[in-house]
Amino acid sequence: MQKTALITGVTGQDGSFLAEFLLDKGYDVHGTIRRSSVDFRERIAHLEGTPRFHLHYADLGDSMSLMQVIGKVRPDEIYNLAAQSHVQVSFDVPEFTANVDATGVLRILEAVRLCGLTRTCRIYQASTSELYGKVEEVPQNEKTPFHPYSPYAVAKLYGYWIVKEYREAYDMFCCSGILFNHESERRGETFVTRKITLAAARIAQGKQEKLYLGNLSSLRDWGYAKDYVECMWLILQNEKPEDFVIATGEQHSVREFCQLAFHHVGIELEFSGEGENEKGIDKATGRVLVEVSPDFYRPTDVVNLWGDPSKAKRELGWNPTKTSFQELVKIMVDADMAKVAVEKASEHIRTNLAEYLEKGIVK
Ligand code: NAP
Ligand code: GDD
Repeated sequence: MQKTALITGVTGQDGSFLAEFLLDKGYDVHGTIRRSSVDFRERIAHLEGTPRFHLHYADLGDSMSLMQVIGKVRPDEIYNLAAQSHVQVSFDVPEFTANVDATGVLRILEAVRLCGLTRTCRIYQASTSELYGKVEEVPQNEKTPFHPYSPYAVAKLYGYWIVKEYREAYDMFCCSGILFNHESERRGETFVTRKITLAAARIAQGKQEKLYLGNLSSLRDWGYAKDYVECMWLILQNEKPEDFVIATGEQHSVREFCQLAFHHVGIELEFSGEGENEKGIDKATGRVLVEVSPDFYRPTDVVNLWGDPSKAKRELGWNPTKTSFQELVKIMVDADMAKVAVEKASEHIRTNLAEYLEKGIVK
């Protein structure tokens, strides 16, 4: 029988990959979008018009909109991916972050209950390795104690616990995927990986002089988002509702990510200096291409994330290293090189066209 899924945050990186994945599996896919003055639907533009793909306005801060969409769609599965997902931004908008990332989860759970779907609807909650924060153990697994270290992480911790509470109190099939960082060519441009790949592409094509970053020594377990959405689905197909750590089991620094990204555009970077004085220098020309700016430091920073995906491998049969770290960086750099080349070409066409119009060569 055809299943129906509802994805909150379908316009985001993960939402767009998950929508494609579920459509391929034959699902009827519904996604929530928000009203904004400029519609940003670039990641799902190619899916609009697909007969089994439907969009609804809803906001995680607005219970009524959630009740309406859940009551109307009556989904078999809900993937709650919507969030204010930027850790640094959560220090600037802590209350908004709590409303969406913490209370928003409660609103979804209550909407499911009030619509009478407790027995039929399975719920996936997008939890995060940020819960481990100021880490108490390396690598981190499902039993590692949490120590959230930002307003974002504290809000997500509430989401994690309220999901567990509803599972135990009401016997609901709701689970958290504790996902470590996952990136892609669709990653938001202010997350560190995408900021680096876009800058490397721009610098290589003469469109940017320098890249400014914060903590270069921060360590992350970076995977490919397209591989991770499969796991979200597997978690809901499991016999029992349980929480899982989803990670690659490999760790790299921001500095290493930078070196590899620049290597793919033909620039070998050498780092020298320390702290705020550290610089990334092009070995061939001696040009300083990367500098540190304290603007990108956080009041408290999570610096040692490294996941142990053994449970997901064993119980879900998931392969955490389908796409290697090296392949991930290459996919992102190749996509940004193409994006910058297209932007340059269209700029060139616009400039020439303006000149031809002025000279009357074209009318
Ligand atoms: P993302 O690209 O930032 O997408 C977030 C989505 O949430 C967007 O569709 C956004 O809509 C929507 N949204 C934000 N505020 C909302 C609100 N008030 N009501 C309804 N929708 C709202 O994030 P992502 O990387 O795909 O991550 C997906 C989820 O996984 C998030 O919950 C994130 O916290 C969590 N997570 C991500 C990672 C990672 O490494 N990517 C790791 C662990 C957990 P707009 O397009 O309108 O802004
Ligand atoms: N964004 C950013 N920009 N981060 C920088 C920069 C910079 O210029 N320079 C260094 N960093 C460091 C940050 O201090 C952090 O330690 C690390 O790079 C990763 O930062 P982000 O890419 O912003 O991701 P995040 O780890 O804080 O959060 C992401 O992953 C979480 C899972 O662990 C987000 O996707 C969260 O939503 C997700 O929960």
